[in-house]
Amino acid sequence: MNTVPRPAPRPEASQQPQADTGSGTVAVGDALPRIDGRLKVTGQARYAAEHPAPDLCHGVVVSSAIARGRITAMHLDEARAVPGVIDILWHGHRPRTRRLDLFYKDMIAPGGSPYKPLYSDGIVYSGQPIALVLADSFEAARCAAALVRVDYEREAHETGLDSNLPQARKPTGFKAGFSKPPKPTGDAPAAFAAAAHTVDLDFHSGAEHHNPMEMHASTVIRGPDGHLTIHDKTQGSQNSRWQVSHVFGLSSDKVTVKNAFVGGAFGSGLRPQYNLLLAVMASLHLGRSVRVVLTRQQMFTFGHRPQTWQRVRLAADARGRLQAVMHDAIAATSRLEDYVEVVVNWSGQLYRCDNVQLGYKLVPLDHATPMDMRAPGAAHGVFALEVAMDELACQVGMDPLALRVANYAERDAAKDLPYSSKELHACYTQGAERFGWSARNPEPRSMREGRELIGWGMATGTWDALQMFARARAVLDAQGHLVVESAASDIGTGTYTVMAQIAAAAMGLPLAHVTFRLGDSTLPVAPVEGGSSHVTTVGSAVEGACEKLQKALLKRAQGLAGSPLRGLKFADVECTGGVLRSRREPGRAVGLADIVAAGGDGQQLEVKYLLLPNILKQKKYVRATHSAVFCEVRVDEELGTVRVTRVVSAVAAGRIVNPLTARSQIIGGVVWGISQALHEETLNDEAQGRFMNHNLSEYHVPVNADIHDIDVLFVAEDDRIVSRLGAKGVGEIGSVAVAAAVSNAIRHATGRRLCDKPFTPDKVMAP
Ligand code: MOS
Repeated sequence: MNTVPRPAPRPEASQQPQADTGSGTVAVGDALPRIDGRLKVTGQARYAAEHPAPDLCHGVVVSSAIARGRITAMHLDEARAVPGVIDILWHGHRPRTRRLDLFYKDMIAPGGSPYKPLYSDGIVYSGQPIALVLADSFEAARCAAALVRVDYEREAHETGLDSNLPQARKPTGFKAGFSKPPKPTGDAPAAFAAAAHTVDLDFHSGAEHHNPMEMHASTVIRGPDGHLTIHDKTQGSQNSRWQVSHVFGLSSDKVTVKNAFVGGAFGSGLRPQYNLLLAVMASLHLGRSVRVVLTRQQMFTFGHRPQTWQRVRLAADARGRLQAVMHDAIAATSRLEDYVEVVVNWSGQLYRCDNVQLGYKLVPLDHATPMDMRAPGAAHGVFALEVAMDELACQVGMDPLALRVANYAERDAAKDLPYSSKELHACYTQGAERFGWSARNPEPRSMREGRELIGWGMATGTWDALQMFARARAVLDAQGHLVVESAASDIGTGTYTVMAQIAAAAMGLPLAHVTFRLGDSTLPVAPVEGGSSHVTTVGSAVEGACEKLQKALLKRAQGLAGSPLRGLKFADVECTGGVLRSRREPGRAVGLADIVAAGGDGQQLEVKYLLLPNILKQKKYVRATHSAVFCEVRVDEELGTVRVTRVVSAVAAGRIVNPLTARSQIIGGVVWGISQALHEETLNDEAQGRFMNHNLSEYHVPVNADIHDIDVLFVAEDDRIVSRLGAKGVGEIGSVAVAAAVSNAIRHATGRRLCDKPFTPDKVMAP
């Protein structure tokens, strides 16, 4: 087979995003366009599957066609006969890997036994990788992969949650960041039984699958000395490096993982995916460079937002004050690992109520282990709570916003702790004002235009404000150029931009004089980019490093003969306009480049900084971001179609470092929330034990025509408990309340309550 002709490789750019214009200084809070934008729109930014290597070999994965059982025979002759095929790896023909579960555990693996690709003849889910076809071209490998035939010995499987609810059991453990549901407070069942108004709703949520633009891919480039440089689609280069080193017993200096550019990840890249281990396996086996790219269909084979069943019971007195909150969730996991996202905890935290009872259980099924997906847990749990709150407002006869204000929590009742900051009131008032909520007629079916009923709904959103630990290195050279480094990631969120911005602001330098380097496992340690915590974590490390650098500069400057800064304390000086100067007497100043040049080493001044969260202080507070989402829907009852024509999202997320990139995060979140409400669901075929609509023609996501007016506003908030920047992080908060607001708007438009996402025409029209 001839390989497809290819255009000449495009020139490799510097691959380092760098602001190229502007000599003025910048501040935290400035709306700066992303500095990686030019590299991306001109195609110079290379993603994981785009890095060239002279001897590159292409691997295509063969996926299991059954959900449970074992492989009894692999028929490979036809595949091997395809011209260009080099070899086929499978469990009987692969390099040695370590055996213990321990070595397969990535940094954020949940409890249990991690999946080990090509490890044995066992099949534990449909779609699991069972062979890797290696060829000179992707096309030859893909053609040959289709010719691999497999004999299986099938065993009975279970893949449906609803038919297995009686198997629910408690999780065996809870991972960091997801604590177990708090103990009950008061007597919720008794309060529920005695209350004037009650709501009791069931929610069935199907699985959802990650569909970032960029498919998961790993390019392993083998150096002459056997060093592996791996371009991996990941949210944490050091997590991937860690797993590769452990599984193959390679010392950490033999492996470098890079993720300079990531085409969206949203949680799919928090854990290393099987393409990484397979690509490394093949590279070690062949002694050459290997690329493994998953197909779009295979993006449905490594984890998903789990199927979840929920029941929410709320009770209120005649004036709408909450008397009881009971929220139970049962979520699917795999038989290998207990994936936990808890789902229910926010229901004990968001409103004031004395009687709260929360439960969370798991059902192990024959699917891949579920995985984090933007606002994991909250996407289901806060949705259910907020739909139930809206239904309660209908029962009590109160405006839904007024009901939430009447139950506003000034402190967290379950944990009896204050909030580190909570400007949710401002979200309610400013969001309602922007939307025009006060003009709402509470009567369902009261607004119509042409064929369409119009409804207005709202919901509250919340997400945890997290901070992890990270290191940053800052190096100032004698030309006054600052390089700051940390093994952070930019999954499309704007990390390059905001980190350079934070550093430039701290040092009083123009953005063009600052380079922020990320996406390389050899850089100072940083966590995975997840949970909307990179600004609070890496951003704080960057600012801390810059402060430390200024202290070092002051010390060195004061050592100069006749230093104008002699005698000044650190608090007395500031960095601005390329000089370090006295705040009171700006004439007393020394140029930063001059200070660097005066050092013994002559060329640069370097500091390293470790950001550790102040856990003792932080744990005295509940730390969360909040939002109020208002939306308008138009429902055509004859066709069952729903359009979300207007959304206002008012967000309280601490200080907003960059309103432009932050706004983009919220817009993206709103789009995904609309998608959850109207489009997305992976349908499970219980007979085959397989997700059926594993492609973008049948797994629906919104297109431009589905998205209308989205208005984002950030309310003033500043939280120095969550981070020294005052920021709390944005990302997940953008999507949390949206699907609930859509359900609530449909209720207002039609009088019909929809609980099971997505609200497709069949459900809208059901009798
Ligand atoms: Mo987060 S689940 O990595 O969007």
